[in-house]
Amino acid sequence: MVLRCIKCGKEYSENEVRYTCNCGGLLEVKLDIERIKNEIDISQYKKHPPTVWKYSQFLPVKRRVSLQEGGTPLYFTDNLAKYIGLKNLFIKHEGMNPTGSFKDRGMTVGVSKAIELGINKVACASTGNTSASMAAYAAKAQLDAFVIIPSGKIALGKLAQAIIYGAKVIPIKGNFDQSLELVSELCKRKEIYLLNSVNPFRLEGQKTIAFEIWDQLGDVPDQVILPVGNAGNISAIWKGFKEFYDAGIIDKLPKMIGVQALGANPIVRYFKSKEINFEPVEKPETSATAIRIGNPVNWPKAVRAIKESSGTIIDVTDNEIRDAQTLIANKEGIFVEPASAAPIAGLIKLINDDFIKYDETIVAIATGHGLKDPNFVLDSISVPKAVPPNINELLKTIGL
Ligand code: F0G
Repeated sequence: MVLRCIKCGKEYSENEVRYTCNCGGLLEVKLDIERIKNEIDISQYKKHPPTVWKYSQFLPVKRRVSLQEGGTPLYFTDNLAKYIGLKNLFIKHEGMNPTGSFKDRGMTVGVSKAIELGINKVACASTGNTSASMAAYAAKAQLDAFVIIPSGKIALGKLAQAIIYGAKVIPIKGNFDQSLELVSELCKRKEIYLLNSVNPFRLEGQKTIAFEIWDQLGDVPDQVILPVGNAGNISAIWKGFKEFYDAGIIDKLPKMIGVQALGANPIVRYFKSKEINFEPVEKPETSATAIRIGNPVNWPKAVRAIKESSGTIIDVTDNEIRDAQTLIANKEGIFVEPASAAPIAGLIKLINDDFIKYDETIVAIATGHGLKDPNFVLDSISVPKAVPPNINELLKTIGL
C-alpha cells in the first residue's frame, strides 16, 4: 500500500505524515487490490451484517478505534418515490451513525491512523459534523482534539457535541475555507494530525458507504446522489465502487451525482464554464451550513468521480432544500439535516430534466441527522399554541 498523487503519480510511504504531494496534488491510498482479490471470500460478506470494519481488508489500518460505526439503514422510500415520480428510490440514512453523520466512517479510520503514527493530537476545521465526529473518536482514543469553526455558522447540535466530547473548540471570525487554511498551517507547525477530508485515510473509511449499498441492495444502483461540500464524500464513495469493481465483486458502476447549494456551488460553476478554470466562491452562503463551502479542497477528486462515472453535479436553492427536508420527513418518517435534503431537491430537478429515468434504481445519501439542526425547522414554522387541559378544547383544536 502506498499514497499516490492523483496529479503526477508520485508515490509516498503510508508511514509519512503528509496530505498533499510536493506538486500540490491530492493524495490517495493505493491498495494492492490483486492481493485482496485473492484473500476475500465474498460468501462471507453475505453472512454478516454491514459495519465499517466488516470490509477491513479494504481498509489501510490495523488499529481500530471504533464506536460501532456504519451499518446504517438503507430505506426503500416508496412513498417519496411515488410522489416525485420514481420507482426504485432508496435513502441511506447516515444520520444513524454514532455521532449522527457519515463522518464517523472516516474518523474511525483517521483516528486509528493517528494512533498508528504515534501522534496524540488531532485537529480539523469544520462546518459542524466533522468536529463532532472527530471529538468523539478523539475522546475514545484519549487524544487531544482541536476544532476550528466559522463563528455563528455551526448548527447547535453539532457545536454541543464537539464541546461535550471534550474538544478545544475555537470559533474564528471567518468562514470554513479560512478555518481550513488556518488549521492546515497549525498542523504543519505543531505535531498535530489533520483530520479534514484532505487526509486520504479518512476517505478510506467513507468509501464503505459504497460497499454497504451493494451489500444491502444486493446490486449496484444506477445512480448515487449526495450533497457536496468539501467534496470528499463523493470521491470516497466512487473509490469504493471502483475498488469493488477491480476486485471482481461487482461488474458495473453507478453514476455519481453531486448536489451543491446555489450560494456555494464552485464545482457546478466549473462544469458550466467548460472546465477551464476552477474559481472558488469567495463568499459562500446557504442556510444548509454543512455545505457552506466556497473552496472545496477535494474538487479535483470530485470532478474525476463525476466524469469517470458519467454523472453530473447540480445546484439547488435553500427553499428547494427546505421543501425537500419536509417532504422526506412527511412521506417517509425520516428527519435529515438541511444539507442531507439537497439530494432529494436535486432529484426532483433531474427527473424534470430527464437525466433520471422512472425505473432506474437511485440511492440518495442522507449524510446527517435532522436533530443536529432543529433551529432550521423551528425558524420556519410556528410552534402550536398551548390550549387549556380540557377535552372540549382539545376536540375543538384538533377539529374532530
Ligand atoms: N452533508 C453533511 C451533513 C456534511 O456535514 C457535509 C460536510 C457534507 C454533506 C459534504 O460532504 O465535504 O465530503 O463533500 N461537512 C464537513 C464538516 C465539511 O466540517 O462537517 P463533503
